Amino acid sequence: MKLDEAIQKRHSVRRFSDKKPDWRTIIECIDSARYAPMAGNIFSLQFILVDNPETISRVAEAAAQDFIKQAKYLVVFCSNPTQTTRYYGERGYDYLRQQAGAAIQNFLLKITEKGLATCWIGHFENTEMKKALGISSKIEVEAIFPIGYEHKIKAKPKKKCNLYNILYFNKYKNKKMNKIKTGLA
Ligand SMILES: Cc1cc2nc3c(=O)[nH]c(=O)nc-3n(C[C@H](O)[C@H](O)[C@H](O)COP(=O)(O)O)c2cc1C
Repeated sequence: MKLDEAIQKRHSVRRFSDKKPDWRTIIECIDSARYAPMAGNIFSLQFILVDNPETISRVAEAAAQDFIKQAKYLVVFCSNPTQTTRYYGERGYDYLRQQAGAAIQNFLLKITEKGLATCWIGHFENTEMKKALGISSKIEVEAIFPIGYEHKIKAKPKKKCNLYNILYFNKYKNKKMNKIKTGLA
């Protein structure tokens, strides 16, 4: 699949079919996250692949999102802040979020390329989520991804914002690109 196609095809799926994905394909998708840029080249992410139905159910409860229970697998993105915050102090926490996002997008594009489906779960009760997954207080849960095959329903494609409403040139709110001075008469 071409990059543009994966970018445009990626979408959140909240209804999964009964077909169980091959966990090795999911590992390939997780592997794509390793190639994301990291501040100071300090790799801060850790992953959990979950297939235990009881754990999946507890995760769904911690997120208060029932549809997660349909998934046969979950991928959990975690950050270990120790090294990044040692090098960058408070700013390190911003970097952790940013680089998790970059890695997640790699993962989502690979999921799309492999014909799998998921939805980014960022809304959850943190303490309950950590308990469900056996995660220590020092590690942060970035996001959860229920993985499956899309149960296709007829739905309108989601509207995306217009580029020209959010793009400026040289200065914030300047909507016009300056003419390039060539020095030629
Ligand atoms: C940081 C973040 C947190 C999100 N959390 C949730 C969530 O908890 N539950 C959910 O159903 N979707 C969640 N989403 C998915 C968004 O609702 C979805 O990306 C958005 O509606 C755009 O749709 P699309 O992904 O199909 O383009 C989250 C997305 C992001 C980026």
